[in-house]
Amino acid sequence: MSRQLFVTTALPYANGNFHIGHIMEYIQADIWVRYQRMQGHHVDFVSADDTHGAPIMIAAEKASITPQQFVAQIAAGRKQYLDGFHIAFDNWHSTDAPENHELARQIYRDLRDIPQSQGGSLIERRTIDQFFDPEKNMFLPDRFIKGECPKCHAKDQYGDNCEVCGAVYAPTDLINPFSALSGAKPEMKSSEHFFFKLSDPRCVAFLEQWTQDGKLQPEVANKVKEWFTIRTNPDGTTSEGLGDWDISRDAPYFGIEIPDAPGKYFYVWLDAPVGYLASLKNLLEKRGQDYDAYMANPALEQHHFIGKDIVTFHTLFWPAMLKFSGRKVPDKVHVHGFLTVNNGEKMSKSRGTGLDPLKYLSLGMNPEWLRYYLATKLNNKNEDIDFNAEDFMARVNSDLIGKFVNIASRAAGFLTKRFDGTLTQSFSEQGSALLSDIHAAKDSIAQAYDAREFGKAAREIMLLADKVNAYVDQHKPWDLAKDAANNQALHQVCSLLINAFVELSRYLAPVLPSLAQAVQAFTGTSMQHWNATGTVASIQPYQHLMQRVTPEQLEALFEPPAVVEEKVTPGGEDIAPTISIDDFTKIDLRIAQIVNCESVEGSVKLLRLTLDVGEGRTRNVFSGIASRYKPEDLKGKLTVMVANLAPRKMKFGVSEGMVLAASHADGTTDAGIYILTPWPGAKPGMRIS
Ligand code: 2FM
Ligand code: ZN
Repeated sequence: MSRQLFVTTALPYANGNFHIGHIMEYIQADIWVRYQRMQGHHVDFVSADDTHGAPIMIAAEKASITPQQFVAQIAAGRKQYLDGFHIAFDNWHSTDAPENHELARQIYRDLRDIPQSQGGSLIERRTIDQFFDPEKNMFLPDRFIKGECPKCHAKDQYGDNCEVCGAVYAPTDLINPFSALSGAKPEMKSSEHFFFKLSDPRCVAFLEQWTQDGKLQPEVANKVKEWFTIRTNPDGTTSEGLGDWDISRDAPYFGIEIPDAPGKYFYVWLDAPVGYLASLKNLLEKRGQDYDAYMANPALEQHHFIGKDIVTFHTLFWPAMLKFSGRKVPDKVHVHGFLTVNNGEKMSKSRGTGLDPLKYLSLGMNPEWLRYYLATKLNNKNEDIDFNAEDFMARVNSDLIGKFVNIASRAAGFLTKRFDGTLTQSFSEQGSALLSDIHAAKDSIAQAYDAREFGKAAREIMLLADKVNAYVDQHKPWDLAKDAANNQALHQVCSLLINAFVELSRYLAPVLPSLAQAVQAFTGTSMQHWNATGTVASIQPYQHLMQRVTPEQLEALFEPPAVVEEKVTPGGEDIAPTISIDDFTKIDLRIAQIVNCESVEGSVKLLRLTLDVGEGRTRNVFSGIASRYKPEDLKGKLTVMVANLAPRKMKFGVSEGMVLAASHADGTTDAGIYILTPWPGAKPGMRIS
């Protein structure tokens, strides 16, 4: 029976580029989706940018652009990662798109307007006290309030917890709180907020069942179970059972306005998961399909892939919102752990220990190495997994290439050179048995993929590859090829190897889609269908399917980003090439007295200076300083001039030298122009050396 699957990954905040944790989640979901498609199931695989909320609004303000422009810039950077790692979403959308505004508002109305006969509204208004920034004129999210920790007295701690002693508290507990946005002392101000009544017995009863009936991994379900009996409040105290959820934020806020409540917006986490539906709706509309009809299909399965940090939202708020607004609820929430890099060191860009996905690609590293490596580590638990550089190299070079890819390269050359690329269909008994072994593993590998036990699938495939390699070592095609009398045996062995390779390639196709495509072209066999059958009739000349990863590549990948020393250009230009003292002494610099100064008729730039350099005569010098000085500022003052500059004929007369003035190379009038003045005591005519 063909399944109809709607699959999502968590929507990333549109305030930064993807990090390796995002890529891991997308690869995990992509492998699963590709596998399901190979089984003939229909999958719609979507995601979107999570665009709303105070942090993005504030980041945009800092960048002096609108939040819409800000998130558009982030969105423009997504494709290179997704294409680069062969992550084939059917749609990438935005929570700021019209579909999401409409859907979020409709879901809210449906929750608000539940008739009394069905228990009444699940939305409630309550007035709460909150910190308000009187300078920015806005309520402050916890993350933007700082102050002294009430427990350990560390300074500059955030409003929700102390990074020094780990204490959890409410922003109102901070000593000397201040706004991280303006530095102002926040005021307490009350405001009306909207709450989703999660503590309502209807919600509790529904969630107690929904979270415990197999939709979640057992360890996740157990954790969630605790929340029904006990919960931790923001101030660190505990309460019984589920609490109501504050779903509104006051303007200014980048988000979706709440219906019939001007100046009130949905908290970003209300409209974020609605973005799953909005992205799907957008996809269906592009295809001319009806969204309501699609969602009404009782066979439709809704699967969310998420990280363990956002379980509450996806196992309490989101299913309850859907259920009580009369919508389909998720069928599965697949929770994964975090990805650490190189022995659990916390990912940190500044320490250079992180794995930058774009750098990975730019170093020419094969995206399928990473897909394979992550697959070997992934299971269906929410455990953290570690990217270890040495382990990565071993798995890619020894297993993926040494055991698997080499099967093809060892056999293909002989087939092309000696048999014109044609394969025999008759195998030895042992060869047929080996192929049967490979076929026999199909269901077990399929089950592993379906259960998201990719590590198990990879191990089973590599065990099969081991068997094939043992067969190669036993029959040694390179020895058979030495004597034409063995031609038939050589043909059989090599043909068998290519057929085995095709089967293994198909098993790995969800993980290695690009390699599978190359194998399809090389052997003329389909890699699209899990249950494809048939043997290979002939092959194209073999071309390298995959290179090895080199230690140099890994070293470069983890090399801390070079501290780019910002090139300093004093005054906006490089210091001129070195000159000798002789060069310098050629310039005769003298103290000059400005005996007269007047503006030049017809010129806005120039002033006419009459200078005395102690020669018993005066000189006439034009200088482009009229933007900065008035004639009366300069009359009688001392300055410095180049006294041996060849006289220059200008439009307004002959200039007999040049006064020295400082300016910035970009010539902006803002930076200004400044003539030089000697310290008191200098006399006209003195030489400067
Ligand atoms: O934690 C996060 O990165 C959120 N942006 C995830 C949202 S998932 C969904 F609800 F949109
Ligand atoms: Zn503290």
